[in-house]
Amino acid sequence: MSAAIETRGLTKRFGGLVALDSVGLQAASGETLGIIGVNGAGKTTLMNCICGLYRPDGGDVFIAGERVTGQPPHVVAHKGIGRTFQVPRVFRKMSLIDNLLVPVLDRRASSDAELTERAEEMLARMQLIGLRHNYAEELSGGQQKLLEMARMLMPDPPIVMLDEPFAGVHPVLCKFMIERIEEMSGAGKAVLLISHDLTSIYRLSSRVVALNQGKIIAEGGVADIRGNPAVIEAYLGA
Ligand SMILES: Nc1ncnc2c1ncn2[C@@H]1O[C@H](COP(=O)(O)OP(=O)(O)O)[C@@H](O)[C@H]1O
Ligand SMILES: [Mg+2]
Repeated sequence: MSAAIETRGLTKRFGGLVALDSVGLQAASGETLGIIGVNGAGKTTLMNCICGLYRPDGGDVFIAGERVTGQPPHVVAHKGIGRTFQVPRVFRKMSLIDNLLVPVLDRRASSDAELTERAEEMLARMQLIGLRHNYAEELSGGQQKLLEMARMLMPDPPIVMLDEPFAGVHPVLCKFMIERIEEMSGAGKAVLLISHDLTSIYRLSSRVVALNQGKIIAEGGVADIRGNPAVIEAYLGA
């Protein structure tokens, strides 16, 4: 069976800089793949190449075995990928409910009432239901991350990519997020979890890929990565 998400030889250059150098990885449904690496290792670039924001210079992206390389973001999203951003991107001047309705505006199969009900369910799951009529800009930074997660989940994507979900987030909220991420993989989603913070990655991931200067320098189970000399050196040398 094909992996839910797979890259082969993914390469991206910015001028003379090779930000991604032939990266091949895959994640199955229900699996959390951790992607670690210091600042500038290429983690966000990898995510941007997968979701279609960047066009890779080489290599391919497959969703459930279907090649989607170079397709625009909305097309890739429709194939079943949801993502969040390192700095949350929410519609600041829209209510929380309306933020959630944006990704499903084209779902003519469902009635407005059904979609609103689902949006409320997602907001309740993120403990934001009491704020559903507030503007997104009224939320704290951490709450905006939760709102973005709720919006990502609205179309029920089989693959989710989370870019630094814990960065700058209060520890209590981190714990809450960790539980929500466990729910996502528990519900059978393939999760690509990007973080430079190793503790949460080690807790959540079934496998880990370590990037450094655009290249995979190690991959394996948490136990393999934890003591891996190349990973330790990359982090200590940073
Ligand atoms: N749009 C861009 N234009 C030029 N250089 C970029 C761009 N995006 C990322 N880079 C460079 O690519 C490298 C990898 O960046 P990034 O993927 O953001 O790393 P990470 O997310 O691991 O911190 C860095 O050297 C960064 O400066
Ligand atoms: Mg990044």
